[in-house]
Amino acid sequence: MTAFPSPTPDFLSRFESQLESSLDDPRHSDREPRVLLEASRHLAFAGAAKRMRPLLVDYFGAALDIPDHHRLAIATAAELIHTASLLHDDVVDEGTHRRGRPTANRQWNNSVAVLGGDLLLCIALEQLYDLPRQVTVDAVTLVAEMTRAAMLEVEARDSGGWSLAEWEDIADGKTGSLLSWCGVAPAISAGLPDEARRFGQCGRHLGLAFQITDDLLDLIGESARIGKNRFADLHNKNPSYPVALARSRSLPLRTALDELWSKEILSTQELEPIAAWIIELGVPALTLERIESHLDLALEALGEFSTTAGGAHIAGWAEQLRAMARNSLEGI
Ligand code: FPP
Ligand code: MG
Repeated sequence: MTAFPSPTPDFLSRFESQLESSLDDPRHSDREPRVLLEASRHLAFAGAAKRMRPLLVDYFGAALDIPDHHRLAIATAAELIHTASLLHDDVVDEGTHRRGRPTANRQWNNSVAVLGGDLLLCIALEQLYDLPRQVTVDAVTLVAEMTRAAMLEVEARDSGGWSLAEWEDIADGKTGSLLSWCGVAPAISAGLPDEARRFGQCGRHLGLAFQITDDLLDLIGESARIGKNRFADLHNKNPSYPVALARSRSLPLRTALDELWSKEILSTQELEPIAAWIIELGVPALTLERIESHLDLALEALGEFSTTAGGAHIAGWAEQLRAMARNSLEGI
């Protein structure tokens, strides 16, 4: 996704300052062992970070006209929760590169990455002290959801036999829940429970549309454009929407994939015929339909707020994602 501007003047630069101050807080910054914050900064300030969650918080906050300092606090917490989850995810996945840098587990070690993630999570929750208690309670529930989804993904990868329903649970917990909180928290901070429910739905559907698009690009995007090797999901047995859909539609494909996945080492060449088979089954067009239906549901939940400054940005973001997903189908 290309960067989308903020409706609030200088929001992103003020967000960056607040993110820095959260890590420079004397409660943490002068304390040993300094390596935990060093590793956290290494990931949090990598230039390739898209700041999608802070921007969404700003959009939802602008739609309700909530005070700037509340938007910044929620945006900082969202980005820190996301960063903490990535530190942990790279340990779980044995990742080597993230945001154009070596992962913390690679540059330091697993202990630094896990404990750095724990510290970041605490700093994330500290950002919410001045907001209504419900905002923090929801954040804690969110982290529990993300954690369960990450474990479900590990189990799914180990068993290799994940279904569409399992894919949905994992994507919802890993991606949908945090984007949902980005809508819920600004509304709760303003004491607006109905808007919290609607914005939560909007964020969740945006998250699912975003995740399915990511999975689709892994299958049909060009490596150079998606910034990683094509077929990484197929290669790593990662639960992916189009692959789950293809498995549900063709038993022979499912058998062929299971046979391939039983091998110790897999080459990209071996995955190419399977990817071509999935494409022949018409899965990309069906996947696009699912993306579009999530985007439509996101916009429906936004309703009349789509004409506010922040709401128009959310609608623009959704349309940009729709166009990207549609374009990806053109080259196949
Ligand atoms: C990256 O997605 C990972 C996540 C979105 C969340 C991972 C969650 C945990 C590890 C649970 C712990 C949570 C917290 C908040 C400490 P991906 O694996 O689909 O994408 P990638 O290819 O970028 O790794
Ligand atoms: Mg991962």
